[in-house]
Amino acid sequence: MIFVTGGAGFIGSNFVLDWLAQNDEPVVNFDKLTYAGNMNNLASVRQDPRHIFVQGDIGNTAQVAALLAQHKPRAIVHFAAESHVDRSIHGPAAFVETNVNGTFGLLEASRAYWNALPDDEKAAFRFLHVSTDEVYGTLGPNDAPFTETTQYAPNSPYSASKAASDHLVRSYHHTYGLPTLTTNCSNNYGSYHFPEKLIPLIITNARAGKPLPIYGDGQQVRDWLYVSDHCAAIRRVLEAGKPGEVYNVGGWNEKANLDVVHTLCDILDELDPKAGGSYRDQITYVTDRPGHDRRYAIDARKIERELGWKPVETFDTGIRKTIQWYLANQEWVKDVQSGDYLKWVEKNYEQRQNPVETK
Ligand code: NAD
Ligand code: DAU
Repeated sequence: MIFVTGGAGFIGSNFVLDWLAQNDEPVVNFDKLTYAGNMNNLASVRQDPRHIFVQGDIGNTAQVAALLAQHKPRAIVHFAAESHVDRSIHGPAAFVETNVNGTFGLLEASRAYWNALPDDEKAAFRFLHVSTDEVYGTLGPNDAPFTETTQYAPNSPYSASKAASDHLVRSYHHTYGLPTLTTNCSNNYGSYHFPEKLIPLIITNARAGKPLPIYGDGQQVRDWLYVSDHCAAIRRVLEAGKPGEVYNVGGWNEKANLDVVHTLCDILDELDPKAGGSYRDQITYVTDRPGHDRRYAIDARKIERELGWKPVETFDTGIRKTIQWYLANQEWVKDVQSGDYLKWVEKNYEQRQNPVETK
């Protein structure tokens, strides 16, 4: 069996659902259920005996150690994190607590468990750490995309905390021999994406008749990857990745934020037209994110060359599937919006004094 942390969040729940759809190997899903953890994401596997959900904190080494001893997983796939850059600007402490201290606690429990395994199980064990391209900092318009050897230069409390966790994972391999794998992935999008992040926020705000907030000039570039492609990459790295190695994962889909928002509006105009105009009319320019990274882009040639993974979805196919999912799952959206999310929206956008301009 495998032990997944953060499996009630956006990517983690997609991973658990895909895993159980393709595989009979059981999953222990360990998640604190912060505002970002949502059991509705896992509704379809709640009764599935292959899915064992346990609520808890990765920093609780004793609880993790007891679970590892009880379930004896052959691998740990570590998604659990505080993941939203804007929240890290408003409140960095939770990011250090979970992403740095929490990962440390998880590594300590994993090391003790792994050390006590018989030799054959010890050799086969893997600790897969899911990280982000944001640890590499920001690119200029003509810079080459990030490779696995790009120097770390994190710019937000979020990316700094992820960078610290990457370094801890690296050190556990080099110092103790723990068979770690690290993936650094670009921006994901798809089903169950919490609507504090750009793409689901735009879809849900558009349909609610609310402003579509563009930070700054909207020309920041992200490299978008459909979440199922990320899950497939993680499965492949788990299966064939070399311990101690890092693999960059990306979609070869660089887009400026404004172009992404225009695409979302245009597809919504087609699939769910609103009376008397286009969703583009709701676009509103607001104060920029402090320290906003201008461009991310991933060079994903290593994982393709060494492990044969490449994305299946283009941005056009993935974004259409995503919008269709949100249109078909309005109960999920309603449920999410009734909770902590609404308090966050008030705080984040009221402090951005603007709209500065509406187009
Ligand atoms: P998310 O915020 O949607 O989910 C995080 C999950 O972790 C939630 O279910 C939450 O309850 C859980 N969690 C938080 N703190 C915890 C703790 N202390 N103990 C146990 N569980 C805890 O995040 P996501 O977008 O699904 O990202 C998952 C991972 O992938 C993160 O490590 C993130 O850094 C990384 N990542 C995300 C993206 C992206 O575009 N979303 C891209 C690259 C890498
Ligand atoms: O690159 C990988 C990272 O992608 C992950 O590590 C993070 O966990 C994930 O949250 C994501 O970070 P970003 O900051 O890139 O994602 P977000 O959806 O918050 O923002 C995407 C871009 O859109 C970014 O340039 C900021 C901008 N934006 C965002 C919001 C929420 C807006 O213009 N308006 C908004 O309201």
